[in-house]
Amino acid sequence: MSTDAIVLLKNDHKEIRKLFKQFQSAGENAVQRKGEIVKEIIEALTVHTYIENEVMYPEVRKLLPDLEDDVLESYEEHHVADVLCAELHAMEPDDEHFVAKTTVLIENVTHHVEEEEQEWFPKVRDGLTRKQLQDIGARMIEVRDKAPRTPAQPSALKKAIDAVTA
Ligand SMILES: [Fe+2]
Ligand SMILES: [Fe+2]
Repeated sequence: MSTDAIVLLKNDHKEIRKLFKQFQSAGENAVQRKGEIVKEIIEALTVHTYIENEVMYPEVRKLLPDLEDDVLESYEEHHVADVLCAELHAMEPDDEHFVAKTTVLIENVTHHVEEEEQEWFPKVRDGLTRKQLQDIGARMIEVRDKAPRTPAQPSALKKAIDAVTA
């Protein structure tokens, strides 16, 4: 199996797009079903974001400093998606904000994924060797096992824990 980093990330993107389509084609009244799909979306995005943030982006930034601005923009786009995922994770599917929030999440992530695939990956592919991309991919497979599956704890809770353990 190829460990090419771009191939691995594109496979993730394909899965994520599939989940988005499932959400969009679920019926108007499929509240519970939509809730289940959103859980899967949150898990897929949490894992994918983790491996990009932990491995892909820092490695590319180090090896191809010219692409630094793209990497910094990606961190911000991920951050927006993280906030929406954390809010959705804490929300019941029958909340009046649930569908609207998911729709905005899907729009944002679709935009980000298109930029990666159409603009960023080709530049990375040009700048790195096959071996470099395979090494990055192998590292991503390793890190994937310890990736979180759900969004980080709400910051209020985290602050309380930090205060106790400080
Ligand atoms: Fe990304
Ligand atoms: Fe991605």
